[in-house]
Amino acid sequence: MSGDTAAQWMEPGDETQIVDRVVQEFTAQFGYAPAGVWSAPGRVNLIGEHIDYNGGACMPFAIPERTWVAAAARPDGMLRGVSLQESHGDVELPLAQVQPGLTARLPESQTWFGYVAGVPWALADTGEGITGADFAIDSTVPIGAGLSSSAALSCAVALASDALADARWERLGDTAEGRIRLAEACVRSENEIVRASTGGLDQAASLRSQEGAVLVCDFRSGESFTVDMGLEAAGYGILVIDTQTTHQLLDGQYASRRQACETAAERLGVQVLRDALPERVTPADVDEAMGDWYRRSGESADSETSRRLHHVFSEMERVQAVIDLFEGTPDADRWQRLGTILDASHASLRDDYEVSCPELDTAVDAARSAGALGARMVGGGFGGSAIALLPEPLMATAATRIAEAFAEAGFAEPRFLRAVPSQPGRRDR
Ligand code: GLA
Repeated sequence: MSGDTAAQWMEPGDETQIVDRVVQEFTAQFGYAPAGVWSAPGRVNLIGEHIDYNGGACMPFAIPERTWVAAAARPDGMLRGVSLQESHGDVELPLAQVQPGLTARLPESQTWFGYVAGVPWALADTGEGITGADFAIDSTVPIGAGLSSSAALSCAVALASDALADARWERLGDTAEGRIRLAEACVRSENEIVRASTGGLDQAASLRSQEGAVLVCDFRSGESFTVDMGLEAAGYGILVIDTQTTHQLLDGQYASRRQACETAAERLGVQVLRDALPERVTPADVDEAMGDWYRRSGESADSETSRRLHHVFSEMERVQAVIDLFEGTPDADRWQRLGTILDASHASLRDDYEVSCPELDTAVDAARSAGALGARMVGGGFGGSAIALLPEPLMATAATRIAEAFAEAGFAEPRFLRAVPSQPGRRDR
């Protein structure tokens, strides 16, 4: 097809203007000024997909796109919300009525509020939340793009609720330990109030990342550290391709993958699948753990559960390999090797875990043909986004090539953004 397809780029926007806008929205809606504005980012995950809920380590980082929340506490137990992304979605609800499964009972136009209301609910349980509040929301994180717009929203609300709670003088948002607690509250809110079975990766990325670095977050020990890859200095960048497609209700598919992992862990006699591998994972350990599985389960290598397990174990090994690449002495071909690992991760998610889709495969293939060192889908899958590791000068032409490949395949028009490791959740005003 034609070579005149232009790539559509998303821009993170002017942050000062966005903060002004959300303050104005709050004031117009509620008739008084907010006590402050907080924001939290979306994320991409460099490596470690579908292993957070198996106790593995993941390597996400915050992207420049964020969700902003202007908020003020209310003494009367009411929660009220308005969002610039939801034209008819004004909501008002007593905190006392927030119960597990709330989202399913809200009218369609108000379901977004489950991500908001669940957070003070989860924090109230440990005495750490607000008793009521008004919230106005604005966001630049694309919704449904697999870039964690929901975690960006709940994490921004968590920081606001934490700062506005009057029972404590110490803020959870001010310490690394406290941010782990806030992230846990956000996960609980999504699991119980929204009934979305998220595993913790998104919330950790949004609250615990560090600007300019990749977070290595271990979901078994809860520990984390950061790695500065030196991506920009080496002349590389990460392109995000939002396929603008979602194929199935992620939930059912996601939950079934999670269930398969839990059942396999039980059959292996371990609490989480990460326990079936040693501390430092090598390819030989993956083979050994798979051998053990075949012996115990009697299943063949091509059974569905065996393939799911192979993805999980091999992805855990790939995380270790990427940590080694950037922790050790710099090695001239480290970028090439990172690209190869990203490619292997995509193949594993596509063939073993079966969470890719034609749009994601096309994005990844077209990125590689346009000079990417490697590319893979990110997040839960079945649509959403892919990332590609590219030499900086190839970034713009690669986006055009990918847009052309989508047009040729008759897919929805993709959108692009540059994934620069950005700031975690913070107070903006
Ligand atoms: C979604 C979930 C995360 C994680 C990823 C897959 O984003 O919310 O917890 O499991 O999928 O890595």
